[in-house]
Amino acid sequence: MMTTQETFFTDRYPELGKGPVPVEPYISPEYYEREKEQIFKKTWLQIGRVEEIPNAGDFFVKELEVCDTEIIVVRNKQGEINAFHNVCAHRMNQIMYEKCGNTRKFFCKFHGWAYDLNGNLTGVPEEECFFDLDRKEYGLSQVSCEVWQGFVFVNMQRNPEQSLSEFMRPVFADIEGYPFDKLTCGFQWTSVVNCNWKLALDAFQEAYHVAYIHGKSIADAIDKGDGGSMRPLDAICGDLHRRLSLAGNQKSVYGNPKAVTSGGAAAAEALSESGGQRPIAAAALRAGMGSARHQFPLDALPEGVNWTKSKNWLFDINVIFPDFYVSLRPNYYQAYTFRPIAHNKILFEGRVYYPEMTTAGGRFFLEYMKVVLRDVLLEDMSTLERTQAAAETGAKRFMILQDSEILVRHGAHVVDRLLTEAQAA
Ligand code: FES
Ligand SMILES: [Fe+2]
Repeated sequence: MMTTQETFFTDRYPELGKGPVPVEPYISPEYYEREKEQIFKKTWLQIGRVEEIPNAGDFFVKELEVCDTEIIVVRNKQGEINAFHNVCAHRMNQIMYEKCGNTRKFFCKFHGWAYDLNGNLTGVPEEECFFDLDRKEYGLSQVSCEVWQGFVFVNMQRNPEQSLSEFMRPVFADIEGYPFDKLTCGFQWTSVVNCNWKLALDAFQEAYHVAYIHGKSIADAIDKGDGGSMRPLDAICGDLHRRLSLAGNQKSVYGNPKAVTSGGAAAAEALSESGGQRPIAAAALRAGMGSARHQFPLDALPEGVNWTKSKNWLFDINVIFPDFYVSLRPNYYQAYTFRPIAHNKILFEGRVYYPEMTTAGGRFFLEYMKVVLRDVLLEDMSTLERTQAAAETGAKRFMILQDSEILVRHGAHVVDRLLTEAQAA
């Protein structure tokens, strides 16, 4: 029997088609309203990490415009993490004004009602003046909250259709066990960006742009064996989630993921080219080598990291539906959230996590990486508001995508499929 050799990743997913993709979902306020109701208020949304609230009474508060609410996430005395709407049961004042902290109870600043860490109403000034007030009826409103690999997720459905694990595992079961809990140092950026959430995410779910927008910063990370482009090693599109694996130039500080903290042969290989072309990067790498408290050899990582087992692997992009991006390397990971505020506005939260560095040289290396990754991020962000403004002119009603942009196509497809299904129901 004759077999045809696969040429395109897109051939594997005929439901995605290969045609132009409509611009309307990126610029329409009406479409965004449907996304809010049918997607964001019905699915699991990543909201933080367990390390942010290690002790009983630790809490943080997140505004979630896309769900028309604000959420308190708190660790109780039993060590469990719960989430509540930040709304007092009396006359709806916000309970917590602070964005994070530690507390024994939640006190409303309006009339002094008090709630314990489990959201139970425990104190009402002038309680005898109310009319048969049953405290049990007037606790804080609980929000579904579960944890996957240390990431805290909330879901606005009272009884979510799927548990968080059922939601994650079809695509991400094979990265469970990645040492998220040991990569607890690093840095973060937050920014309000005037663009659609999908448009922002799209700029991070393909590598076609690397040779151009990053041409002066990290383009030497590209695996030149592939003609100077950054064709993915593999692409996987699930029912909701998606992932892309990318190769890199192992002779580059930026292209060799093992060099970052492991030193040894990998670092020597990375330094062989960067030493001359990137003297400051090379100096930072030399300063940081051997400083990381934890080392993670590639073969000790879960199967789903570098799942094609490529020798030239650089990193994997994992997009957790709808708006959460995690890129995994052996020694650091990036967790980016592209959370909508309006149809043309997002709150971007970008966090980069490393293992703790034990020497001053290691700290210097981290500071160096912070600046490099900031600059790369600024390059990525530099297009977003311009693209949004250009999209809103209406000059183009469709965009065209090549095979390496399959995650962009899949992202648009999944949102549209869910909205169409909701309309039909
Ligand atoms: S609104 Fe909170 S105590 Fe009155
Ligand atoms: Fe980029």
